[in-house]
Amino acid sequence: MPQPRKIVITSALPYANGPIHLGHLVEYIQTDIWSRFQKMRGHECYYVCADDAHGTPIMLRAQAEGITPETLIARISKEHQQDFAGFNIGFDHYHSTHSVENQYFATTIYERLKAQNHISRKTIKQFFDPEKSMFLPDRFIKGTCPKCKATDQYGDNCEACGATYSPTDLIDPKSVISGATPIEKETEHLFFELAHFNDELKAWTHQGHLQTQIANKLDEWFESGLRAWDISRDAPYFGFEIPGEKDKFFYVWLDAPIGYMASFKALCDRKGLDFDDYWGKDADTELYHFIGKDIIYFHALFWPAMLSGANFRTPSAIYAHGFLTIDGQKMSKSRGTFIMAKTYLDHLNPEHLRYYFAAKLNSRIDDIDLNLEDFAQRVNSDLIGKVVNIASRCAGFVVKKFDGKLCEDWSPIALALYQSFLDKSESIAELYERREYVQAMRDIMALADKANEYIDDTAPWVLAKQPNQQAALHESVSLGINLFRVLITYLAPVLPDTALKSADFLQLTSLQWRDIEQPLVGHIIKKFKPLMTRIEAETLIKMMDASKGDIAAQAPKSTLGSTEATKANPASAPDPVATEIEFDDFAKIDLRIAKIVNAETVPEANKLLKLTLDIGLGQRQVFAGIKSAYDPSKLIGKHTVMVANLKPRKMRFGLSEGMVLAAGPGGKDLFLLNPDDGATPGMRVN
Ligand code: MSP
Ligand code: ZN
Repeated sequence: MPQPRKIVITSALPYANGPIHLGHLVEYIQTDIWSRFQKMRGHECYYVCADDAHGTPIMLRAQAEGITPETLIARISKEHQQDFAGFNIGFDHYHSTHSVENQYFATTIYERLKAQNHISRKTIKQFFDPEKSMFLPDRFIKGTCPKCKATDQYGDNCEACGATYSPTDLIDPKSVISGATPIEKETEHLFFELAHFNDELKAWTHQGHLQTQIANKLDEWFESGLRAWDISRDAPYFGFEIPGEKDKFFYVWLDAPIGYMASFKALCDRKGLDFDDYWGKDADTELYHFIGKDIIYFHALFWPAMLSGANFRTPSAIYAHGFLTIDGQKMSKSRGTFIMAKTYLDHLNPEHLRYYFAAKLNSRIDDIDLNLEDFAQRVNSDLIGKVVNIASRCAGFVVKKFDGKLCEDWSPIALALYQSFLDKSESIAELYERREYVQAMRDIMALADKANEYIDDTAPWVLAKQPNQQAALHESVSLGINLFRVLITYLAPVLPDTALKSADFLQLTSLQWRDIEQPLVGHIIKKFKPLMTRIEAETLIKMMDASKGDIAAQAPKSTLGSTEATKANPASAPDPVATEIEFDDFAKIDLRIAKIVNAETVPEANKLLKLTLDIGLGQRQVFAGIKSAYDPSKLIGKHTVMVANLKPRKMRFGLSEGMVLAAGPGGKDLFLLNPDDGATPGMRVN
């Protein structure tokens, strides 16, 4: 067992202008697993976060709602914290960037950088909204793309052709806020001279603080030269005023990472910790930032430079992860795959998503995919079918036959099996440490298989019927319970709630990593209560339907919910939306790829075919009027698009549970998809 370490962990601070969604949760779950793991290993570890509360979008949204930004951010912070609590994200402190601590550190860092001549001034030209009397961030200007001429494109990049440009290049630019044509106006801005840190950063990025993929990416940025970073914004702005300046505010991205320090400072004040032990120049403690791949530039370049220039410590490491896709595609409001944390929690068990993400996450920055069918299958087969099953197979015998008491004497075979589970302890710990959760979950499930095999082999249900086999029965089920305890300890960082319930059932006060070195002998356990239930296809469908409802209810009318920063944010970038019908109407239709598993004629109807469709989550029967175009036997195995949420309709021949869509002139020429067109059943197509 290594020496206790002192560790501070952060996740990126979510913007206070939108709800937490499943994409965010990849990060908070990844971080929380790591933090819980470190704590179980006996380290002194603190996990802090905060809402990122400043910036133009928050200011404008508060205006639109007729409330102060302070009222808005207080409300959103409460919602965020409820969502996080719902997913058992165990922050040690949750703060806000709009706080006295953050103002103090932002000011201190700025003043120290300024004193060292790292701050410069430059007059720049920026678009100005003459009606609103304010300068416009790039995301608040829309116009026609200078490259491909697509209309309605943002001021920084075109979503149609992918071109990047400056807002002044847009054809016919308009302010998103007022619709007015912006004018170009001069203004003086403050800049952080990043290039002063060129050599230091070059070295730092190759000292093991970053994933190799990222360090290599950064080399490209060094080659093209580090540019000064614009850190000021003109009033009106919701943020901190820059000391010594008039009507100038810190750009939201300046004080956002400083929010990590602010949150930790607030924790220090609560707990009596010494802030300098953790953030002082010579701190020998560890500091880790978990972030998404879209905000690497801010964390791997600006942030260490700011810290170093202001005489604070730099991070031990920055751990970036990829983006969440749903069924292989980026989360999308128009496809109804923008699932909010709250919507998930209304229908499903948070521990299931935690496990699924763990089973997908490794130390790389590749995107991870949530496929709902795979999700249900994985959770049901691993957690319920393998892990929980061990306890439920054994506990009854222990309680009924042996008054809940586990046996005291173990045969050499039992001892050896238990030892083989313990032997994995350090390698599994190592996998958690390196954020190779995929492999950790695989190794743990392999052990679960082994435990189930042992139970199959010893067959306690057979032994129970043989009066002379009671000692063997006692050993079999006692060992089963002990193996379950080891597994649930290994899984506790991922499944904190199930671990807690298991500890209660096992009558244990703690589930520390090392505790398993002592097996439970002669120990009394409680009656077993089911620890979790299966995921049913119906529940998933209900959740997706509710999610579409949420989106319809809050379909964006403007970009007020968008981010101001010029970072690519694939998850929240709106998709091009059809224009002829209202978004709300379209969002209600659940279009899915369906596989035709059976097709037969309906003798009583000359136009209809009776189709059995597989939409991934289950089968549906549909009566479709396409008999004239197709020989039913040729349809089997083909794919079609179906309206999956059409209210079932009783027809003369039976229930029709949806509608299929076919394109073409009609009659004999209706087109369906071939299975090799790349569509998978259940895939959403709108
Ligand atoms: N406020 C900034 C971070 C400031 S940190 C000093 C921000 N906020 S965010 O709400 O847009 O994102 C918060 C975190 O969630 C980021 O690390 C971001 O990468 C991550 N994710 C947001 N959408 C995501 C997915 N769809 N998938 C995975 N992670 C995603 O950025
Ligand atoms: Zn374009």
